[in-house]
Amino acid sequence: MNTQIRANQISEANHLIIGGCDAISLAKEFGTPLVVYDVAQIKQQFQDFQEVFQENAVDYAVSYASKAFANTAMYQLVQKMNGHIDVVSAGEIQLALHAGFSASQMTFHGNNKSREELTLAVKAGIGVIALDNFHEIDLLHQILAEQQRSVDVLLRITPGISAHTHEYIQTGQVDSKFGFDLESGQVDQALQKALQEPNMNVLGIHAHIGSQIFELAGFEGASEKLVDLAARWQREYDFETQVLNVGGGFGIRYVSDDQPLAPQDFVATIIQTIKKRTRTLGLRTPAIWIEPGRSIVGPAGYTLYTVGARKDVPGIRSYLAVDGGMGDNIRPALYGAAYEAVLANKPEAPASEIVRIAGKYCESGDILIQEQAIPETKPGDIIAVLNTGAYGYSMASNYNLNVKPAIVFAEGGRATLVTRRERIEDIERLDFNLDGSQRS
Ligand SMILES: Cc1ncc(COP(=O)(O)O)c(C=O)c1O
Repeated sequence: MNTQIRANQISEANHLIIGGCDAISLAKEFGTPLVVYDVAQIKQQFQDFQEVFQENAVDYAVSYASKAFANTAMYQLVQKMNGHIDVVSAGEIQLALHAGFSASQMTFHGNNKSREELTLAVKAGIGVIALDNFHEIDLLHQILAEQQRSVDVLLRITPGISAHTHEYIQTGQVDSKFGFDLESGQVDQALQKALQEPNMNVLGIHAHIGSQIFELAGFEGASEKLVDLAARWQREYDFETQVLNVGGGFGIRYVSDDQPLAPQDFVATIIQTIKKRTRTLGLRTPAIWIEPGRSIVGPAGYTLYTVGARKDVPGIRSYLAVDGGMGDNIRPALYGAAYEAVLANKPEAPASEIVRIAGKYCESGDILIQEQAIPETKPGDIIAVLNTGAYGYSMASNYNLNVKPAIVFAEGGRATLVTRRERIEDIERLDFNLDGSQRS
């Protein structure tokens, strides 16, 4: 059996259980492809993060990076967990606001926030804006003057730390589109500029060094650099850093061979590094904020697919096609990301062959899993791809005019439909006739 499945996830009927619900019943009731979240697992990860801060007696915020997965129910769940959120677009801000999420608990990120987005954020009373570039400082200056409002800001810096992960998702190195560069002194110019703005209250510094990181070293290095910068700013500008936001990026287990630390262990190291360094440099320990996305929702998510066609290429391999693919999970095609799957209607059955699990999209690269050991399957069987909770649905597309899947939250044996499956009418609603007239 796949070692990522716990013994209590197998039902008496030998079906996969997610959040106390039988995966096969979920597939029947809601159709496939279906994204299912184990809500208790999300809550547990949130609590584990919060506890590590409480045990270390530091001020903190656990700010869920909602780009990993955002819908109304998720925002409401984070609010219930007393979390903050990281938002990166007008869409995320509006959905969160409509979900009842407090604007004051949001941090607005992005390397090219528009005037409209910044205006929306300011009007809503956003908690923090993470300033990313000089143009944004000017834009925000105008908006705050027009609105006669003020706002708390963080300065996002690129600390020059290159985390050991896939290069497309590194953001902490010097050659990055995000944030003010530390080495060249841009960060000092940014601080001076922001401090001159009467309507911007500079809370502190932000850095996000990458994603799916397995090593502690990058976080230790970044934490030290942040404290060193805070100490220098205290000396040179008499500026006291109240918040150090170290971003997210804590690696998770996607396949059985992955052996990441528990996400909260990364955070314990970050806290200890910051505490030690501030003590050495005679600074007050600031509040420490983190922005985990993947580690909160990734392992809690499963995607259920129905097995369809099979192609056996003699002497080469067999392709098993499912009813979803790169439209609901682009990560394998985009990053070569690896996943594992289990046969949800027989998770304990021993594997009898190795197949390539292909999606249904018109791209040869639409492969969900390159090599999956699996028991014998037949059309109609349900397979569950594991750990699909982060950057799957949130990066979903309508490629080939396939509709996006439904999402179910499963907890204690209860399944709640939290996002309905798209219908072609949802897509058609945006279209007009060739002559520009409304469709009937
Ligand atoms: C600024 C910022 N914070 C947090 C995150 C979340 O990262 P992860 O999902 O790897 O924890 C990202 C991801 O890109 C990010 O850009």
